[in-house]
Amino acid sequence: MEEIREEKVLYSAVQPSGSLTIGNYIGAIRNWVELQSRFTCFYAIADMHAITVRQEPALLRRRTLELAALYIACGVDPEKCTLYVQSNVPAHAELAWVLNTVTYVGEMERMTQFKDKSAKHAENVNMGLMDYPVLMAADILLYQAHLVPVGIDQRQHLEITRDIAIRFNNRYGETFRVPEAYILKEGAKITSLQDPLHKMSKSDENPNASVYLSDDKDTIMRKFKRAVTDSDNRIVASEEKPGVTNLLNIYASFKGCSVPEAEKTFEGKGYGDFKLAVGETVADALAPIQAEQKRLLADKGYLAGVLKKGAETASYTARKTLSKVFRKVGFYRGD
Ligand code: TRP
Repeated sequence: MEEIREEKVLYSAVQPSGSLTIGNYIGAIRNWVELQSRFTCFYAIADMHAITVRQEPALLRRRTLELAALYIACGVDPEKCTLYVQSNVPAHAELAWVLNTVTYVGEMERMTQFKDKSAKHAENVNMGLMDYPVLMAADILLYQAHLVPVGIDQRQHLEITRDIAIRFNNRYGETFRVPEAYILKEGAKITSLQDPLHKMSKSDENPNASVYLSDDKDTIMRKFKRAVTDSDNRIVASEEKPGVTNLLNIYASFKGCSVPEAEKTFEGKGYGDFKLAVGETVADALAPIQAEQKRLLADKGYLAGVLKKGAETASYTARKTLSKVFRKVGFYRGD
């Protein structure tokens, strides 16, 4: 069947901070793969956002490459989308500066993520942290994106992006497309293996709470063995059984089956066997991705080439918008 490709532009980015979990894989990475054949996608590794909290420079650089390799290993195809590193396209910083002048300090101070991160990093409430949403608006608006796939934690940032775009357009004339949220198909929410009422997080302090995409099989098996369940010994998904439900969701997501099908598979089985089977399934699914990521990371020339080409393609589109903006605000352009 012929692929249906809508000409809409879709923008997304991910920060190269912390190791990704299987929750990120199911909730985000897999979507990038699916969306790349339906839209004109720009996918960025947001290293400029990452430094709004302290990063070890060598580690940031390594994680940037690892993330690019991981996305490609998961099926993001640089031939089908534009994959690039944010800091390689100077237009992001340049547009953010202009957008700063149509953004109010008060509205930035009220952003939920700014308040949360300020509390968490009280010793480092830097201007970049407060400006984070403006840089994000610049990311999106540079590419005249129609759609931005957002989870609940980024909704407010998209709202402010829309506000900034509308405000700029009103003040200077039609310049930016006002982007819409692309509501993702309700995928399973993957929660912590230790506290299944809370989201699985890449920064959880409990090492058994999250399964990382880089975990080896032994580690994965150990974490699933220790996963919190309940004492009722029935393998069914229900609100009163968040631990078991989470394991069923994980199993179903990685097997590509439905939760009722997963329930059927484990009918009459005990929790011990169930946890082993979930662990095996996850480990088996991750093994080829990990191997491919490793192979790509060993081929630095290839990755560098992909990211260079990505940055060039992104720059071309970004520059067009930026020139328009510079003209609108009255910057002298030598002509
Ligand atoms: N702030 C996003 C996150 O942490 C990452 C991001 C940066 C982003 N720029 C973006 C997401 C533009 C969507 C669009 O998840």
